[in-house]
Amino acid sequence: MEPWQRLPLLLLYPLLLLPWSSSSTSCILDEEGDNCFCNFSAPEPQWNDIAMCLSAIEVEILGGGHDLDTFLQKGGVADPGKAADVLKALRLRRLKLREAQVPAPLVYQLLRTLTYTRIKELTLEDLVISHPPLPPQSPTDSDVGLTALKLNRVSLAGESNLLAALGSWLKPSLKTLSLTGLGLSNVPCPDLGTFKELNSLDLSDNPDIGESGLTGAFCLKELQALSNLSLRNTSLVSLAEVCHGLEATGTNVQHLDISYNELRDTPQTQCTWPPTLLSLNLSHSKLKCVPKSLPKKLLQLDLSYNLLMRQPMPTELPQVTDLILKGNPFANSITLARLQGEQASKGCAVPSRGTRSVGTPLALQVSGTAALVMLQGVRVFA
Ligand SMILES: *[C@@H]1O[C@H](CO)[C@@H](O)[C@H](O)[C@H]1NC(C)=O
Ligand SMILES: *[C@@H]1O[C@H](CO)[C@@H](O)[C@H](O)[C@H]1NC(C)=O
Ligand SMILES: *[C@@H]1O[C@H](CO)[C@@H](O)[C@H](O)[C@H]1NC(C)=O
Ligand SMILES: *[C@@H]1O[C@H](CO)[C@@H](O)[C@H](O)[C@H]1NC(C)=O
Repeated sequence: MEPWQRLPLLLLYPLLLLPWSSSSTSCILDEEGDNCFCNFSAPEPQWNDIAMCLSAIEVEILGGGHDLDTFLQKGGVADPGKAADVLKALRLRRLKLREAQVPAPLVYQLLRTLTYTRIKELTLEDLVISHPPLPPQSPTDSDVGLTALKLNRVSLAGESNLLAALGSWLKPSLKTLSLTGLGLSNVPCPDLGTFKELNSLDLSDNPDIGESGLTGAFCLKELQALSNLSLRNTSLVSLAEVCHGLEATGTNVQHLDISYNELRDTPQTQCTWPPTLLSLNLSHSKLKCVPKSLPKKLLQLDLSYNLLMRQPMPTELPQVTDLILKGNPFANSITLARLQGEQASKGCAVPSRGTRSVGTPLALQVSGTAALVMLQGVRVFA
């Protein structure tokens, strides 16, 4: 047996079973030896190049859509416990695995191996986990000491609940959980209950959630440490309904990201936003006016990339110290001129106290510039 074949690397990445290539073309290790990136997109990937990442703290592996089934057939299922001391000595803290088809027994093997390491963050993205089921953690397996688990567009064939399958490997001390693009239709409360220390939950890119998936997510109240909640691109349609949904859950979140939802600002019925809420992200929400049904004590408000026709007036957002407005038509004269033509009649009501504001002169000034720009354009085509 060659010396390299005894390396615990074989256990850490059960895919390493082919001979070394003389120089690595697939992997890049940075100068400090901290970050390693492998791109195995080539038709005949040099999997063993991954050896270059042995010393790295952060490792990212791009599987190029390959089916890792071949590694199972080569019988790479050794007992990682035999190399426990060496695995513990690895500097690996963050591992990201992207774009591959991974058989469930290999995922199981990876999880078992990671229990011996000091890894803190695991990201799985664009993976298809084939050959279900994912074998459950056995009583002799320890937990993986992750503080962050991020799953983005991962599907587990034949089994609907990926989080339940992976969750049993995790310690209750998990702090950050991302479950994005998983096709969820609600907040997966039964699987979240054990993570009492969770402070960041990202459920973005699950368009089936909507307000109905939020209402009834009573576990949000039990997650006392939950400070950041992201619901980007989850088919939310009404700010008032989001407020009602959160009120019903009794959550104490501080940062709420509901960007990438087409939000209507329906008149606010009796509803109180979580009193702890400090920042709200309404970016990319197709808002034409500054919403009125906003939390009262916001410090930060992101209204970037909406359809606002004028700069909000200080009276509209008295508490907000950090207001983000980039990417709105009022800041871009050409778009503004076009939109003003389309919606001349549907303007937002200007609060009566704001009569002496700078809003009107600014708008006039901007549309004046727009007219000039358009005239110039006409001249070019004439
Ligand atoms: C990975 O390599 C392929 C070619 O094999 C290339 O097309 C692709 O852009 C690379 N991806 C990254 C993220 O480097
Ligand atoms: C919203 O989520 C869906 C499903 O994950 C995805 O296909 C789509 O690209 C997302 N939209 C945006 C704007 O990110
Ligand atoms: C929560 O969000 C805020 C602002 O969006 C960010 O500064 C902070 O790092 C986040 N906290 C966690 C624990 O992710
Ligand atoms: C708000 O959300 C957008 C889009 O999701 C993101 O680009 C932006 O950084 C967020 N703003 C803040 C202040 O975190």
